[in-house]
Amino acid sequence: MSGLFNFFWVTQMNRPIRIAVTGPTGSIGYSILFRIAAGDLFGKQQPVELRLLARNTPESQNRLKGTMMELADCAFPLLAEMSAHTDEKELFDGAECVFLIGSQPRKEGMDRSDLLRANGEIFRRQGKALNERASRDVRVVVVGNPCNTNAYIAMKNAPDLAPECFSALMRLDQNRAMARLAEKLELPVSGIEQVFVWGNHGNTMYPDVRFARYRGKRVDSELDSEWLASFIPNVATRGSQIIKARGASSAASAASAAIDHMRDWILGSEGRCCTMAVPSDGSYGIPRGLMFGFPCFCPGEGRYQIISDMPITPEVRAQIEKNRDALIAEAQAVSDLLF
Ligand code: LMR
Repeated sequence: MSGLFNFFWVTQMNRPIRIAVTGPTGSIGYSILFRIAAGDLFGKQQPVELRLLARNTPESQNRLKGTMMELADCAFPLLAEMSAHTDEKELFDGAECVFLIGSQPRKEGMDRSDLLRANGEIFRRQGKALNERASRDVRVVVVGNPCNTNAYIAMKNAPDLAPECFSALMRLDQNRAMARLAEKLELPVSGIEQVFVWGNHGNTMYPDVRFARYRGKRVDSELDSEWLASFIPNVATRGSQIIKARGASSAASAASAAIDHMRDWILGSEGRCCTMAVPSDGSYGIPRGLMFGFPCFCPGEGRYQIISDMPITPEVRAQIEKNRDALIAEAQAVSDLLF
């Protein structure tokens, strides 16, 4: 990998960015496609090409056909090209930006880790296909659950791509934490900063508001211990709360978070701290390579930096270790799917 996403060359040439999406007819996929094509990902000047995966069934292909008819009917000026593929290698051919969404969603009463066996094989196969055919500068975000370990499986099956090409979605958890904090403070969410979530997109995740700010001013003194005690499980179980309320897992909010994640990664987070699950560089004692949610800063051009000097109290250390152990256990459970 050159280390820099070739975004600037792409924009200078005004050539469409090649984006591959799996699960385009599921609820998250259906929501994300229209936002990407409208310019919410790369801005209103950058054309995009959409490559979409259909399953090899008439039903799936018809659904995708209908979705593509709708995309065409929006007459999006930025949607330069779109194509449907049933072969994952073809789908990822030259792909520069990849959303791995297609997977089995969880149902009420399940944990995300219960999906490990059902979904792990998909990400093994897709990691191999990416390894063979994607751009060497590709940026991949895994949304399908359990997303940290699925991203780990994909990364391990793509030994010719830099591990830093892979990530998993924890921006949804950060967005949820910011929304709860804004509600508590009765302030607009747009001014909330420095909120991030450690670890795994699972029950053990640890939302950290110790350094939260509103328009640059610290707000931690306004957060009482009673609120904090309910805030952490509230963020961690928000996915289940949504499944219970709407009878299906989150869709538009997950799509929106995936756009936030990819946009900041490629274009830069403008000095804001953002949560990304990325291969550990050993920071905070997390084994190298484990796909762990860290506070990150994105300087642009497809790069991120793990913020490795956050103050850690014994209590936070214990929470980080709980997530580390959960992810190690998940990785061990799928050791047969790793390259
Ligand atoms: C979410 O957090 O809403 C998604 O990961 C879906 C789920 O299963 O919770």
